[in-house]
Amino acid sequence: MARAQEWQEIRSPDGRLEVDFAVDQGEAIYRASFKGKPIIDRSLLGFRFKDRQSLEAGFTLGDVKRTATDTTWAQPWGERHFVRDASNGIVATVTAADGRELRIEFRVFDDGFGFRYILPGDPKDRFVISDEVTQFAFAQNYRAWWIPAYREKFSEYEYSRSALSAVPAVQTPLTLEGDGVAMAVHEAALVDYASMNLRLVADNTKTLKADLSPWSNGDLVRARGGLATPWRAILVADNAAKLADSRLILNLNEPNRLGDVSWAKPMKYIGIFWGMHIGRYTWEPGPDHGATTARARQYIDWAAANGIPGVLFEGWNKGWDAPQWWLNGHSRFTQNEAATDFDMDAVAAHARARGVEIVGHHETGAQVQDYLRQLDPALDYYERHGVKAIKLGYVGTRLDMTEWPDGQYAVENFQKVVEAAARHHIAVFPHEPVKDTGLRRTWPNLMSREGARGQEYNGGSPDTGNSPDHLAIVPFTRMLSGPFDYTPGVFNFDYKAKRPHNRVPSTLAQQLALFVVLYSPVQMAVDLPENYEGNPAFRFIHDVPTDWEESRTLMGEIGEYVVTARQGRNTEDWFLGALTNGNARKLTVPLDFLEPGKRYEAMIYADGPGADWRGAPERVSIRRKVVTARSIMTLSLAPGGGQAIRFRAL
Ligand code: NOJ
Ligand code: CA
Repeated sequence: MARAQEWQEIRSPDGRLEVDFAVDQGEAIYRASFKGKPIIDRSLLGFRFKDRQSLEAGFTLGDVKRTATDTTWAQPWGERHFVRDASNGIVATVTAADGRELRIEFRVFDDGFGFRYILPGDPKDRFVISDEVTQFAFAQNYRAWWIPAYREKFSEYEYSRSALSAVPAVQTPLTLEGDGVAMAVHEAALVDYASMNLRLVADNTKTLKADLSPWSNGDLVRARGGLATPWRAILVADNAAKLADSRLILNLNEPNRLGDVSWAKPMKYIGIFWGMHIGRYTWEPGPDHGATTARARQYIDWAAANGIPGVLFEGWNKGWDAPQWWLNGHSRFTQNEAATDFDMDAVAAHARARGVEIVGHHETGAQVQDYLRQLDPALDYYERHGVKAIKLGYVGTRLDMTEWPDGQYAVENFQKVVEAAARHHIAVFPHEPVKDTGLRRTWPNLMSREGARGQEYNGGSPDTGNSPDHLAIVPFTRMLSGPFDYTPGVFNFDYKAKRPHNRVPSTLAQQLALFVVLYSPVQMAVDLPENYEGNPAFRFIHDVPTDWEESRTLMGEIGEYVVTARQGRNTEDWFLGALTNGNARKLTVPLDFLEPGKRYEAMIYADGPGADWRGAPERVSIRRKVVTARSIMTLSLAPGGGQAIRFRAL
């Protein structure tokens, strides 16, 4: 072990987190402690290559440059307007025995730390990374919350809980808690590289290592000289609620490269979508085709009359009639030609006349090359029709039938779509995406994504749907990576005609709370318009913003419950969302996030008497109350229940 004075110590601005770097017996290593207790012990850094000597031993320490930042930057849209970026860091150069250099950069913030590698060299020098040595040798056998890596449904699994020492290969974010700390391992700024999954270095250890998602031939990353890797990020907090408010991932991304993105607008939308998932309409042509001109007009009229800015039409284009379109070896989707019963010109004119935005849809069936060939004409087509946001879909287990949906192939091709869309002033939100690593800071037209088990599973999945625990875990796991297009807002729980075994494992009040709890700048009110008609609870969906000045997770326990408060951008109003898992519970919530001295009208949407996700999900009670920052509210949540509150400044 290196002697203490050989460690390069880096402390967070508040002094509570310490990360140390050293070269010890030729190995580049780091460790970390929080509040004086080790959280990560001696962990190795380095690389192995397919075509050259590894960079993992025989190092000598060269130059160590100290860095420090303390600035505040503004998000064009987001879960908060202003983000403080304060860190201390180093850039250390280590030299291998043959003279090759490797730079390792650390940044230590109050809410976690990141490090990345810079492989100097000529961009003309090409090489293949065959292993990233990066380790995370955790100090304790923490409780772990994870979804598996390299599985058929990819990101669309419910989270499992186990001891750290029992995790299989897992995706990030991986959340850990215990011993007075909550942490997550993730990455930031994933471009031109493979996603980092994690696996134990050996069974029954507490040491994880980077496990990069490979190309089909086993290469991990096809690299060139001058490469800077994504940041390896460890979010660190006192507890799960604080972890959920981490700004680390955004701070480790590069600033906005697009300049003015006023065209990338947060918004709520409805759509021809849930109707297909519950088996009432079809994507493909036929008697029950969902996306017809007549239905599109009707949805646009409804959106205009009910204050919903956008409408999505899935199944509007040609290609959905191919049998098993999601498994085809080659795509049959045509992205700039409408189905015969959908008149895009007429629909676009109607939307324009009503002041409603069309949300475009490109399902690619995971046929990436075919989609890229069509991309420019398809974006032109949408731009001509006034479309400013497109939902993307990559349904399939492998891209182009061969590559993992999180390998370098996926990463580089997703990025091409984001940048092409930006040139057309179009925002995108992919489903079946590469996981979020905070790129929305750099490309703010990459607004949201799926990348988790969404509401769609409750609609039509053969496995009957999600468990009532799922959404009590997601705020502390999936949401750490970024916005989630979950599609909340089910009001009609009786859609059994075609789906006798599926159910939405929540109450109506919880469906409202999701608009606050699950942050997304594009937020779909998922149910059919006719199911909202005449229900006074729709008022909350009408009122809730999609863009926020400030966000705070007030309390929560992973897998149990969460309470989130957010203040709308450009208003004094606050909104609160609370949800519980399958267990009923009472929560006492001080309203000290409100502005002191101000009075607010609280419009409360609570689980009604006897509400229960199993038998009486639709029971909601709506009442008003005047409150101040000194008020304390008791929230009674039903099994699978929730509560949504709008605080209007008086
Ligand atoms: C899966 C997506 O997650 C879902 O939102 C969409 O409706 C279908 N694919 C069809 O594109
Ligand atoms: Ca999906």
